[in-house]
Amino acid sequence: MKEALCVKDLCKTYVTNKRQNNVLKNVNFTVYQGEMVAVMGPSGSGKSTLLYSVSGMDRPTAGEVLLAGKQITDLKERELAKVRLTSMGFIFQQMHMLKNLSIMDNILLPAYQADKSRSRQEINEFCLALMRKLGISDVAGNDITEVSGGQLQRACICRSLINQPKILFADEPTGALNRSASEDVMQELNKLNQEGTTIMLVTHDMKVAAKCSRILYIVDGNIKGELRMEGQDTQEKLRERKLNNWLIEMGW
Ligand SMILES: Nc1ncnc2c1ncn2[C@@H]1O[C@H](COP(=O)(O)OP(=O)(O)OP(=O)(O)O)[C@@H](O)[C@H]1O
Ligand SMILES: [Mg+2]
Repeated sequence: MKEALCVKDLCKTYVTNKRQNNVLKNVNFTVYQGEMVAVMGPSGSGKSTLLYSVSGMDRPTAGEVLLAGKQITDLKERELAKVRLTSMGFIFQQMHMLKNLSIMDNILLPAYQADKSRSRQEINEFCLALMRKLGISDVAGNDITEVSGGQLQRACICRSLINQPKILFADEPTGALNRSASEDVMQELNKLNQEGTTIMLVTHDMKVAAKCSRILYIVDGNIKGELRMEGQDTQEKLRERKLNNWLIEMGW
């Protein structure tokens, strides 16, 4: 299996009011192409920090991150921004959508910024197809304040996919959604994963994590354990039971 993301001895320290907070402490893991990995753990354990540090949104204090075998830790800010724009997709906890743009324009923006090879028309068509796929084409022209939470989240997914990233990072992609909208979003993420997009997400939701192929459990800035969902664990209830038992073992 090819490596999509390789993380070596990753450390992240925040300094606030002269106090040092070692949030990530020598974290090591690999995500392979085609995997869908969930990161779970108590609040404050460093899950979001981990996601930001491995995705080049934030600089790690020490350690290495390789994206498809290429070091991204030492890249200059401009180069890193390009990698983020063209090879990665992001779905954030706080959804950074621009208020003065419509849903569709928000989704289009990263493509206009990134892609000089695709024409505007090609990009627009791709965007419309994405919105249809995620079931939000009827609100394409709406303001971001004129859609539901679930629709906004699906718009975020469309935006994260507009540049056809190799890897998608999501921090609590269903955190603000009710059960039914959450299931819709997970169905879409599962579909994208089956179509070949590697996904790494953070979640508190057992049902969400049970839909992933592997779960990393992080405590106090370290990976304490990992659980692999085997191919034969096809039944949702069985997967959830397996995960639940494991989480209890982990001290969840
Ligand atoms: N920008 C920052 N500056 C200083 N400290 C930070 C910063 N971001 C996070 N921290 C600290 O790092 C620790 C881990 O935070 P992080 O957001 O990664 O936790 P988390 O596991 O994602 O929690 P949650 O489940 O609540 O989202 C916390 O102690 C937090 O206060
Ligand atoms: Mg978090």
